[in-house]
Amino acid sequence: MSPTVELVKRTVEKHGTKRESLMPILQDIVQEQRYLTDEAMVEVANLLDLSAAEVYGTASFYTFLDLKPRGENIIRICKTITCYMKGKDEIIKAIEDRLKITIGETTSDGKFSFLDANCIGWCHEGPAMLINDKVYTKLTPKKAVDAINEYYS
Ligand code: FES
Repeated sequence: MSPTVELVKRTVEKHGTKRESLMPILQDIVQEQRYLTDEAMVEVANLLDLSAAEVYGTASFYTFLDLKPRGENIIRICKTITCYMKGKDEIIKAIEDRLKITIGETTSDGKFSFLDANCIGWCHEGPAMLINDKVYTKLTPKKAVDAINEYYS
């Protein structure tokens, strides 16, 4: 049995095989493997008696369920209207310059992936971003770059 299949089996045992277990199962797999492989999604579909298309559809709908290998740390900048109006483009530019990648890419050292996300619930303190699970609010270009630099020290 491949490590992926083993992980899927373990995760399904933990959450059960009901349809509503699909999201927590996918989230746990992403947490362990950093992204969802086709093998994992097919195995989840088999065990939950769903079609692979349904599992893939759910996974691709939620931006937090990665379908590609990502860097060690994931930056997600909010692209929704309030953050947009509060200057998120300037923040994106500063991060792109700091990491020498454009949004959607991973740095060559594998340290960061830089993604955008829909509203992360901090509109009142925007522009906002997450680095992994940590929230950074009221961003300025400098504040965003300083946050990234912390991960290099
Ligand atoms: S609009 Fe950016 S956090 Fe809500």
